[in-house]
Amino acid sequence: MALVTTKEMFKKAYEGGYAIGAFNVNNMEIIQGITEAAKEQQAPLILQVSSGARKYANHTYLVKLVEAAIIETDLPICLHLDHGDTFELCKSCIDGGFTSVMIDGSHHDYEDNVALTKKVVEYAHDHGVVVEGELGKLEGVEDDVKVAEGEGSYTDPDQVLDFVTRTGVDSLAIAIGTSHGAYKFKPGMKPQLRFDILDEVSKRLPGFPIVLHGASSVMPEFVKMINENGGNMPDAIGIPEDMLREAATKAVCKINIDSDLRLAMTGTIRKYFAENPSHFDPRQYLKPAREAIKGMVAHKIVNVLGCNGKA
Ligand code: G3H
Ligand code: 13P
Ligand code: ZN
Repeated sequence: MALVTTKEMFKKAYEGGYAIGAFNVNNMEIIQGITEAAKEQQAPLILQVSSGARKYANHTYLVKLVEAAIIETDLPICLHLDHGDTFELCKSCIDGGFTSVMIDGSHHDYEDNVALTKKVVEYAHDHGVVVEGELGKLEGVEDDVKVAEGEGSYTDPDQVLDFVTRTGVDSLAIAIGTSHGAYKFKPGMKPQLRFDILDEVSKRLPGFPIVLHGASSVMPEFVKMINENGGNMPDAIGIPEDMLREAATKAVCKINIDSDLRLAMTGTIRKYFAENPSHFDPRQYLKPAREAIKGMVAHKIVNVLGCNGKA
């Protein structure tokens, strides 16, 4: 099996009423934890790399680790650039073997977003690579871009057909109330997603795959594990898993998860050191961290995404 694009995955997911998990990867243990879970669950997979991950781990290392995961799992895996912000970054990932890129022009005005996205689509499609665009602005932090509270904006359903037609994108990320990071809703606030916007979008784009960013549920067990072992995270509230499940049965074909991976890894390592303060062999604490990621991802595949058995 070689790296695949999301074309076939999204078609089946849309028709089958489930979603594919897009998990952010930064190192070997994260890739192993995710792909071992997907193998056991026979789930198709998107592994995504942010520009920060690329700076941290190096493009070639990440590509080779993902290639190793394909050899080990024989699963359909797509390697995707998360939040590409320039044509040059997207081109570099396309030239360097990625099968999918996101060009996130959501911070530009509409016409500039269309022009930038279209330019990336033309280059990507010439190279057999698919493209995710974004309309609407999510709050939260991603790489160096921080969208402040109150400065996000929901996707306008009246723009989506024009955007997709003029750019030629293969999937579209929309803003319906999710946000990046661990602090998605204020304490005491009831989490809500604008399913009405999702429905309006899919009415205007029948059969077209929609993407949800900022979709970690900020699993309380891991926040608790961090705080019980020397951490000090304030109340962190994520997207309830039943809402994500509902989105997956609708037009949402790709659900992005990063913060839950970070929490699982950090909580487990903190607990390990609290219990074993004299240990210093990285394999000793990275092994349970990898196991925690594996368990968390298996849970998402089965209970949230519904893509188990769909590889
Ligand atoms: O949406 C952003 C992802 O969580 C990636 O985060 O840019 O810190 O790698 P990062
Ligand atoms: P979370 O911060 O909710 O995990 O979102 C990740 C994401 O959208 C990556 O693009
Ligand atoms: Zn994102």
